[in-house]
Amino acid sequence: MSKLVNAERQSVVIVGAGLAGFTVACALAQQGYAGEVTLVGDEPWPPYDRPPLSKQFQLDGDESQVWLAPELPPNVKLQRQRKALAIDPRRQELCLDDGSTLPWDRLVLATGTRPRRLAQLDTLPRVLTLRTLDDARAIREALKSVASLLVIGGGPIGLELAASAAELGRQSTVVEMGPRLMGRSVPAAMADILLEYHRSQGIAIHLGRTVAALDDGAKEAVLDDGQRVPAGLVVVGIGVQANDELAAQAGIACDDGVFVDGWCRTTAPGVFAVGDVTRQRNPVTGRFERIETWANAQGQAQALASILCNPGEARAYDAVPWFWSDQGGARLQCAGALTGEQQAWRVDAAGGRVLVHWSGGRITGVAALNAARDFVQLKKLILPRTTITPEQLSAPAANIRALVQQALVL
Ligand code: FAD
Ligand code: APR
Repeated sequence: MSKLVNAERQSVVIVGAGLAGFTVACALAQQGYAGEVTLVGDEPWPPYDRPPLSKQFQLDGDESQVWLAPELPPNVKLQRQRKALAIDPRRQELCLDDGSTLPWDRLVLATGTRPRRLAQLDTLPRVLTLRTLDDARAIREALKSVASLLVIGGGPIGLELAASAAELGRQSTVVEMGPRLMGRSVPAAMADILLEYHRSQGIAIHLGRTVAALDDGAKEAVLDDGQRVPAGLVVVGIGVQANDELAAQAGIACDDGVFVDGWCRTTAPGVFAVGDVTRQRNPVTGRFERIETWANAQGQAQALASILCNPGEARAYDAVPWFWSDQGGARLQCAGALTGEQQAWRVDAAGGRVLVHWSGGRITGVAALNAARDFVQLKKLILPRTTITPEQLSAPAANIRALVQQALVL
């Protein structure tokens, strides 16, 4: 990568004040970046964290737990409730919705994603989606006056919310189109255990089905096989799409996500992108993917701050993707890829489980349910050319931490 002249004095404009945008701004300040940093966000709130919105926030409504930081560093200017409408890459300007323009030397796109919608249900007032703090407030409020929640989509959003509503005493139903839960992000064998867990908690789960119609009078939904399920409130959690229109309109390469390389560079000079909006090379699968996780948004943003501060020295970002999802009493954690020709389980004394995948003798993925300590250790073996064997993993007396340390020094 070519060294930039006076990189440390260049103005940086960041579009999107979510986790990724916020982290770039704070990390630049922490690293002593001397240029002007402006963070432009279209939401009315200071930067906040989304993971609590489907979990603890639904239970206690405690907003003090969602803010990312009480204050931004003094040299970061935050423009709230300001939408970026267009990028002029030639003039290096960003056009905002109040008619003003912001000049930039370096532009960072951190515009995240938005929920996919179901067109046939979109106009009904009882049908919500969950992405923002306002969405979470609306769901929490609506849950107070209904007996039941129907979630369309059995991914992390649907299952976390269904579990929270069940904890609040609401009758929870999940309708998933695919043959199993969490099809995008969890191995099938682990999804089966999750299914069993949620059903044991009283959550009704319909696989291979979707919603054909809503019966507003009866507060029920009609599934595509004619079954009727309770639906006092309906939340659609069927995945997300990238907010990549700004980039696309500026001629930057996108495909439901802005393409970036390991240095977070887009195809336009001086324009970078981080977080959920990016389509980046997954170091485990080798494919360009959108990695929709908190850890990626934070890690990629920190990497970009180093790249902007030390363009000649910073190394490419290539962290192993991972995420967690707390679904009631189930803490799920997954890292790496879901596939591999060989797999083995470990079940600990407290009932925690880990499923490890191997491909070509190397560990490619780890999925854990209520086994956080083993997960943290085994995740370290995903990219290095070192491994433990399925037999070592599954041996009842195995000390996973010791085995991993041993493998790493070999
Ligand atoms: P976002 O958080 O989407 O932020 C993008 C921001 O940019 C938004 O504020 C958006 O309004 C703004 N924006 C967009 N366009 C413009 C524009 N033109 N002008 C100005 N501003 C703009 N991940 C996990 O790993 N584990 C979890 O348990 C987990 N739980 C989650 C629970 C919920 C309810 C949700 C919604 C997500 C969860 N995630 C979880 C995912 C995680 O929160 C995301 O990966 C992370 O928020 C991505 O951060 P981001 O900054 O890239 O995007
Ligand atoms: N009817 C029922 N289910 C559907 C339908 C439909 N019409 N369309 C899609 N689905 C299912 C998919 O099969 C999938 O299992 O919805 C599920 C959506 O799962 P994800 O793609 O994982 O998306 P979601 O749960 O909405 O999470 C969105 O939030 O927590 C973050 O990182 C997560 O970025 C992700 C985002």
